Amino acid sequence: MSAFSSAVRGMIEYLEPVLSYVGDATYQGRVMRPEACDFRFGNPQEMPLPEIQQALTKWAEPKDKDWFAYKFNDPAAIKVAVDSLRRRVGIDFDPLDISMTTGAFGALASTLRAVVDPGDEVIYLSPPWFFYVPMILQLGAKPVRVDFTPPQFELPIDAIEWHITPQTRAIIVNSPHNPSGRVFTPDELERLSNVLEASHRTIYLISDEAYSRILFDGREFHSPVRYYDRSFLIYTYGKTLVSPGQRLGYIAMPPSMPDREELREALFVSQLALGYAFPNALMQYAMEDLEKVSVDVDALQRRRDRIVSALTEMGYETVNPEGTFYVMVRSPIADEREFTRHLGDQDVFVLPGGMFELPGWFRISLTANDSMVERSLPGFERAIDSVRVGKT
Ligand SMILES: Cc1ncc(COP(=O)(O)O)c(C=O)c1O
Repeated sequence: MSAFSSAVRGMIEYLEPVLSYVGDATYQGRVMRPEACDFRFGNPQEMPLPEIQQALTKWAEPKDKDWFAYKFNDPAAIKVAVDSLRRRVGIDFDPLDISMTTGAFGALASTLRAVVDPGDEVIYLSPPWFFYVPMILQLGAKPVRVDFTPPQFELPIDAIEWHITPQTRAIIVNSPHNPSGRVFTPDELERLSNVLEASHRTIYLISDEAYSRILFDGREFHSPVRYYDRSFLIYTYGKTLVSPGQRLGYIAMPPSMPDREELREALFVSQLALGYAFPNALMQYAMEDLEKVSVDVDALQRRRDRIVSALTEMGYETVNPEGTFYVMVRSPIADEREFTRHLGDQDVFVLPGGMFELPGWFRISLTANDSMVERSLPGFERAIDSVRVGKT
């Protein structure tokens, strides 16, 4: 008999491609070499923004005896969130409806825990962020996959409608979307809202807005929360600050949410029972300063432009992202795992689409630095040439 619970077994099976990829020691050794160009994950490839250290140092000095006592929702941090959301999303959130979390991970897990029962169905859009499915399985609920169609990645509203059943309890929507970089339009969100409204059973929309401040070409972000009353807004500072190891984020329920008094309590208890999914005290104090800090989005955009135009010229098909820090590229051969090995031979490391339910494609992270981008381009060219002339 297996030592794992069945929920964990399901999670391991689902994450197998990711676990075997990151657990491959030979491969890891090659990625760590200084000449390697590592485009796999949204990890920092440059020194952290100095303002992060300044904020943490400033707030590390205790001002009272409870400075490092248990902190749930620090009022000063909540105020920062409310002001920021008013400015960015255009909704006046009640401070009582903000729950401080350990980034989007903690926010998503707590929200799902609060509203989903075993046997419920949760719709997610594919390709997804890696951990939606494990989080749904963790609750004994059923993940229901609805596919985007590349390269457009439009919100698949008809398909969502077909997949709604009497068991559907929630849908997770991620805009700007990792990995395609799509920012969904007001028209798409309006149509989605109409479909969800038509369900007999209450469906909650969980809006993963991890990348809502990483937008290109002066694009505006439209929060799905503005279009559907029963929404939870999920935010994390990990992306804007490119510091995912410093956990800070929140859940926000709009004033339009029915039963929000009960839901506040449900979220609070879920956060506790999940193992204290509240951010460290220090991160909450520093939020006032961290709110003003951001990765250089213009630099990301320049990097996007450089990669997309260079790869297009070489003959790759790319998706030009409207936000996030990812670029999707179609593999020139059907087996993208094999193609990413050719890239690996050139010291260029990208994420094969099979790891996020989209075989035939691969993802490049723009958190790479500029010199890495320049160094990688000849490798990208040699890799596509090698499959063109059948040298493989
Ligand atoms: C779409 C999406 N949601 C949530 C997360 C988790 O964010 P955090 O680690 O800041 O909690 C990520 C991180 O990669 C993400 O890409």
